[in-house]
Amino acid sequence: MIRVGILTVSDRSSRGEREDLSGPALKTLVQEQGWEVSVSSIVPDNLEVIKSTLISWVDFEKLDLVLTTGGTGFAQRDITPEATLEIIDRNAPGIAEAMRAQSLKITDHAMLSRAIAGIRKTTLIVNFPGSPKAATENFAVIQSVIPHAIQLLKDDPAAEGSHQI
Ligand code: MTE
Repeated sequence: MIRVGILTVSDRSSRGEREDLSGPALKTLVQEQGWEVSVSSIVPDNLEVIKSTLISWVDFEKLDLVLTTGGTGFAQRDITPEATLEIIDRNAPGIAEAMRAQSLKITDHAMLSRAIAGIRKTTLIVNFPGSPKAATENFAVIQSVIPHAIQLLKDDPAAEGSHQI
């Protein structure tokens, strides 16, 4: 069972001024895969709050996958990628590259997402843009590789079967 955390990053949603639609959209998509949403939260666009939430979800909750949504754009307050970068051990650029490449087929605005993906300990963290549409489209890009990615992170011998020599 893949254990997932979903973190919505939005000043307005954290203050209750705007309904969080992306977090619930991602929750549904995760559950449709048969994965478990172990924890979800809404935090403001605050570097230290984002970092401490991600650290706690990785180090104490020991989740397999953390999806963030929001705060990846060019607005002054958008700092989700910077917060993520500060707490990951290793970058996973292929995931962000694939998301932007596929998203560019849908909208030029995909260029405006600065989303990154990376690994802390044995947890994969992936940034998604903030709109439910964008989050849903980006999830569709990466969903197929997640189980294998997590097998590899856990050094699961079953992962070998997916590798061609
Ligand atoms: N990617 C996809 N697939 N679909 C979209 O509609 N919207 C873009 C982009 N990526 C979009 C997308 C837009 S309009 C912006 S501003 C950036 O993601 C950053 O979004 P964020 O600031 O909500 O994180």
